[in-house]
Amino acid sequence: MKRVQGEWQVSDRVKLLPSSTIKEMTRLSNRHGAINLAQGFPDFSAPETLKSAAIRAIKEGYNQYEISHGSAKLRERIARKLREYNGIEADWEENITVTCGSTEAMMDTVIALTDPGDEVIVTEPFYENYVPATVISGARPKYVRLTEPDFRFDEEKLKEKFSSKTKLMIVNTPNNPSGRVFNKAELKLVADLCKDHDVTAITDEIYERIVYKGYSHLSLATLPGMAERTVTISGISKTFSVTGWRVGYAVAPRRLTKAIRKVHDYMTVCAPSPLQRAAAEGLAMPGSYYKSLRDSYERKRRFMLDSLGGMGFKCVEPQGAYYILADFTQFSKSDDFAFSNYLVRRAAVAVLPASSFYATKEAGKNMVRFSYCKRDQTLKEAVQRLKRALN
Ligand SMILES: Cc1ncc(COP(=O)(O)O)c(C=O)c1O
Repeated sequence: MKRVQGEWQVSDRVKLLPSSTIKEMTRLSNRHGAINLAQGFPDFSAPETLKSAAIRAIKEGYNQYEISHGSAKLRERIARKLREYNGIEADWEENITVTCGSTEAMMDTVIALTDPGDEVIVTEPFYENYVPATVISGARPKYVRLTEPDFRFDEEKLKEKFSSKTKLMIVNTPNNPSGRVFNKAELKLVADLCKDHDVTAITDEIYERIVYKGYSHLSLATLPGMAERTVTISGISKTFSVTGWRVGYAVAPRRLTKAIRKVHDYMTVCAPSPLQRAAAEGLAMPGSYYKSLRDSYERKRRFMLDSLGGMGFKCVEPQGAYYILADFTQFSKSDDFAFSNYLVRRAAVAVLPASSFYATKEAGKNMVRFSYCKRDQTLKEAVQRLKRALN
């Protein structure tokens, strides 16, 4: 193959990776001194329990490599939470791998379970990490689009995507960016297809504790016959508002866990040891913590839906997670990137162009995504700025 001077230094695989729109919007946001509603990280403080546990752990000397697949204490707590909250029976010694965030858990799992040429079913709109994980593994993403405007599974479309090459299907519930919390019938459809085609499911449940009234979180692994073919991924980033701590985990049957741990070992050795201790304390917090987390996001969601709707955005009401997809065509005929650029410059509010969640050309160009994991006063200020710029 003819190569441009110097190009040989970069792998073809990496050249195929899209660059991260989320990180790019955050850079733009910082440059313009904007309120960052593009990236999903809270601007409020993490719970005191976790912060003091982390400081204590460092002072007590938990500063060296941890057991690669996670401290015993944290894995025990995760196993307990899986039993009590998710209804998943997991052996902490055999089924749980603690990783540097759920991002690493996803990367390790896709690398561990696919060979070049395998196909991975990814739902559109998707969280941006699934495609890079697939491409880095040498596998091929096969996209299946959720129906709009309500972002449901289309049975026929989903069936068409399964083939003899399908190795994995990635599900994300509660879903980023659509806000869907998939119901039992939808997850049963996924489960039946995975069983029929001998496919392993990966389910990203990082928003499992942010589910609004009227909806409930269901873990795919609890459906009949799915425990032995599901990798459940989650972490502490969103539940405890510590996205910078990088503690997540993958829960899988023994044979898959062995493969995932091998990749994890070489990838990162272990997640930060003092933060694993703090995560274990976080997981021991009472039910009232999770209720107040949910109530607080319920309030923020209502405020944003009312404010954006009042201005003229057409919003999809989220059932879970902390994002709102909003149609902006009332304000502009330009595409989502141009509109996002306009907002960051004129309103000093950064949002995310929704086409970055799609591989299908033209999809999502009429929408932007707002993250509302921010203090009430930040959201109020953002709404004021938007009103001034759009009136
Ligand atoms: C759906 C989804 N999965 C995973 C992540 C990343 O989680 P972590 O911080 O555990 O890597 C995010 C972050 O925004 C997300 O939205």
